Amino acid sequence: MDVDKIYMCSSENMTQIADKSISLVVTSPPYNIDIQYGNKTSKGKVVESKGVKYRDKMDENTYRSMLERVFTECKRVVKDDGSIWVNIKNRLIDGVIVPPFWIQDFFQDMYLKNIIIWNFDWGGATNSRFAPRYEFIFWFVKDKNKYIFNLDDVKIPALNYRPDRYKSQMKNPTDVWRISMVSGNFEERTAHPSQYPEQLIERIILAGSNPGDIIMDPFMGSGTTAVVAKKLGRHYLGYEIVKEYCDMAQERLDRVEGQHDI
Ligand SMILES: C[S@@+](CC[C@H](N)C(=O)[O-])C[C@H]1O[C@@H](n2cnc3c(N)ncnc32)[C@H](O)[C@@H]1O
Repeated sequence: MDVDKIYMCSSENMTQIADKSISLVVTSPPYNIDIQYGNKTSKGKVVESKGVKYRDKMDENTYRSMLERVFTECKRVVKDDGSIWVNIKNRLIDGVIVPPFWIQDFFQDMYLKNIIIWNFDWGGATNSRFAPRYEFIFWFVKDKNKYIFNLDDVKIPALNYRPDRYKSQMKNPTDVWRISMVSGNFEERTAHPSQYPEQLIERIILAGSNPGDIIMDPFMGSGTTAVVAKKLGRHYLGYEIVKEYCDMAQERLDRVEGQHDI
């Protein structure tokens, strides 16, 4: 099986990936909230771009059937001690919040280990309610007793460290993570409308996989998962249907040492 590739096709059929070959799936699926994927936004205006466009406004049943097919494939390719991490946020439908717990419907045959709150202090503005400043990350494992979790690799300095009380100055980062959203002045920023930060994925890949493992993202976007996997000495695989995003991922991967292919 080839590794270090992003396939420019839908992840509904992962024919290129063998059963139980992936240690970690980490992804942020399309939200079905009419994000302008395939178009670029410049100074508040949507600018038409060339290439395939992904429609982020499907009928709800069509949307969930697509996710069902993708997540069924993810479960097929994940190893017995592997895990699936899904980043989603509250959706607004007709101005009303749809909380994210519907995602669990796709993982009834796995075990939920954590619901992580990702908190950030930069994002869209609104005067009609409090501005949203968190998203969720659901962590599912196949085997509730045997799974990769390298806690020592992701511990953070304890602010209230007392040498007389604690063995180590480093502590569990807990299930609330304060990590900045990718803002305009970040070097990693691309034109993708919903790019997640490298720092967020770094913690997940370090905790949930070992060097040499394969990390898979079925909705690769601008390539963040692949870039971080490569930086951390893991292999990557993924899918993305918009050519421009595949190109962006390729450019980002080019800047990381080593060989890869799309
Ligand atoms: C939320 S974005 C992911 C962004 C990514 N995490 C990043 O940091 O750039 C979801 C992506 O899924 C892609 N997509 C939607 N449906 C897909 C499918 N069936 N197969 C593969 N990619 C798909 C969209 O084009 C979009 O780029």
